[in-house]
Amino acid sequence: MPPTQTNLKVMSVKEIPFLNLQSDKATEAMETAIQRVLKSGSFVLGAEVEEFEQEFAAASGLAQAVGVGNGTDALSLILKGLNIGPGDEVITTPLSAAFTAMAIVMVGATPVFADIDAERLTLNPSAVSAAIGPKTAAILPVHLFGQAADMPAIMNLAKCHGLAVIEDCCQAHLATCEGRPVGTFGSGGAFSFYPTKNLGAIGDGGIVGTNDTVLADKIRCLRNGGQSLPNHHESMGVNSRLDEIQAAVLRAKLPFLRQWTERRRSLAAFYRTNLNETSVRIPAEVDAGHVYHLFPVHSTERNRLQEYLKSNGIYTLIHYPTPIPQQPAFATYKVDCPTANRLCNELLSLPLHPNLTDSQIQLVALTVSRFMPTSV
Ligand SMILES: Cc1ncc(COP(=O)(O)O)c(C=O)c1O
Repeated sequence: MPPTQTNLKVMSVKEIPFLNLQSDKATEAMETAIQRVLKSGSFVLGAEVEEFEQEFAAASGLAQAVGVGNGTDALSLILKGLNIGPGDEVITTPLSAAFTAMAIVMVGATPVFADIDAERLTLNPSAVSAAIGPKTAAILPVHLFGQAADMPAIMNLAKCHGLAVIEDCCQAHLATCEGRPVGTFGSGGAFSFYPTKNLGAIGDGGIVGTNDTVLADKIRCLRNGGQSLPNHHESMGVNSRLDEIQAAVLRAKLPFLRQWTERRRSLAAFYRTNLNETSVRIPAEVDAGHVYHLFPVHSTERNRLQEYLKSNGIYTLIHYPTPIPQQPAFATYKVDCPTANRLCNELLSLPLHPNLTDSQIQLVALTVSRFMPTSV
């Protein structure tokens, strides 16, 4: 039964958290997986990691996958594997987790921020084109909130200018762009398994996906101190290894990922239909391969809307309150990206996750629909 004005009060006694990671269908399988690792006595880069790499690659339409410590390392290892470093510029988006741009700085390269497309919320290819200069070595688009960046246009630019492309797929497990899996357009894609991600570990984890066997082998060596053989450090690597517990947990959850993604899509469709004639504006679904890691809405009174929802027991988050170039850590790389600046004041992420119930989403939609902006 859809919530009505009369039952709204009773239902709102229950709070609706932004996310619920406490229990899901995979819990039993995860417990079994953890026991299996404890009994094996092998805890870092063992059989579970190898199996998971193959299973994740197969599920994601990628030839190779290399398990690493987290998504940030996955990005920096791809850059390092491509020999991108000091003196090189990498064009990226101002609207993302700051870790995206930090990965560029980690290898000694310079992030150059190009503004975003106001509808898609990802790198605007025209802004990328304008930012290309003699030092540009690569473009690093982010498939933000679960929707792919405009990869055909970005690949076209990269081809014309001889640039590498590294895809930030940290929020885009199983996403596609015009039917093609993310991570397969450029040299490689970086995925995060931070617990809140569409496929989340019970700690940190990440993976590099690539169709380039040579790059995969190089990153396998780099993630483990640059060792090509035990105790033989061929190159200056890092310590960024996926552990067996995380890999086993991810293996237990992976078989559910497709159905969880479908649930995300149907919840998103519900919001689209039911928030259509309200004060909020919904970003476009430009590509049907969207996997809805997050569901942001635009509101010109974003902070008031967030407070109002909270007073009704509905918890939301802001992705992201500050464009990366405006972060203190990026003061040296400061540039003005007006579209990103504006959207950082407008976007509010509503609860959307596979454990969100029908009655919860109905209540969120109804409550949002009753928000009265002062400017109306
Ligand atoms: C778009 C994006 N890129 C990179 C990262 C970094 O991933 P991790 O936290 O696994 O290092 C995240 C996660 O916070 C992210 O959302």
